[in-house]
Amino acid sequence: MAALHQSQIRSLPLLARGKVRDMYAVGDDKLLIVASDRISAFDVILDDPIPGKGQVLTELTSFWLDKLAHVVPNHSTGIAPEDVVAADERDQVAGRAVVVKRLKPILVEAVARGYLIGSGWKDYQATGAVCGISLPAGLKQASRLPEPIFTPAAKAEVGAHDENVDFERVVAEVGQDMAEQIRSITLRLYSEASAYAAGKGIIIADTKFEFGLDAAGALHLMDEVLTPDSSRFWPADQYAEGGSPPSFDKQFVRDWLETQPWDKTPPAPRLPAEVIEKTAAKYREAVTRLTS
Ligand SMILES: Nc1ncnc2c1ncn2[C@@H]1O[C@H](COP(=O)(O)OP(=O)(O)OP(=O)(O)O)[C@@H](O)[C@H]1O
Ligand SMILES: [Mg+2]
Repeated sequence: MAALHQSQIRSLPLLARGKVRDMYAVGDDKLLIVASDRISAFDVILDDPIPGKGQVLTELTSFWLDKLAHVVPNHSTGIAPEDVVAADERDQVAGRAVVVKRLKPILVEAVARGYLIGSGWKDYQATGAVCGISLPAGLKQASRLPEPIFTPAAKAEVGAHDENVDFERVVAEVGQDMAEQIRSITLRLYSEASAYAAGKGIIIADTKFEFGLDAAGALHLMDEVLTPDSSRFWPADQYAEGGSPPSFDKQFVRDWLETQPWDKTPPAPRLPAEVIEKTAAKYREAVTRLTS
């Protein structure tokens, strides 16, 4: 399978290229979102794509959107991406693109955490709290939380890290009602998904959702959903607190990069073939375990 670093759809207007996805306009109310095989680590896009990664992200997102459609409306249209591009562009979108409703993004990353890891663990060590939510003393790295918490983050500018914020910042951004709706939907999505994943031997330590509004102002789930890029998936049988459990995400790439003399600004070191192959296999394993 050839890796796709960047799509080149000439029959539609290009709106933006994100770290992973390329966005094109389909009329004035829909988008074609193409998930490339680009991988970012420490917020830097690497030169080496991971073959098949875009298909994994797309397949998992559509699996979860179907499964969770009863919780909140989402951006899906059911339109086949092959039907909105030129004939000679179909191989660029097959299996890795979606046609979605074009929504007005809510500029809050809606994060749910069931375990203490990453920036949550860092904040807890510094303050005993995450996003203004006080937690019991004595928790360790990767400890399971007494109950899942909503820990929103402000979307950072390109190249910067997202910043954890407290619930009041979300209220200031979108109003009390919408903020509460986003919090309760986020926690419901997380609890349903983590219960399902537990049955497949996977712990969803945390995950990030994005929401947007349609023309009538109705809240929709958008973007990618419960993928290894937007979540931390841990094999349950290797879980232990007091360290960072192995995961189905970019941990492999990150761990290798940490061994390199690199200051985490572009360009990143080129990945060895072995790291690329192992990472591709990890992404495939996540999809097989969750959807079979
Ligand atoms: N239905 C939708 N309507 C409008 N925008 C959407 C929709 N679904 C996803 N998006 C946006 O498309 C982009 C997806 O690209 P990608 O995930 O590669 O970006 P990113 O590098 O994560 O950038 P960002 O910081 O904006 O998330 C995101 O900005 C996301 O908010
Ligand atoms: Mg994104």
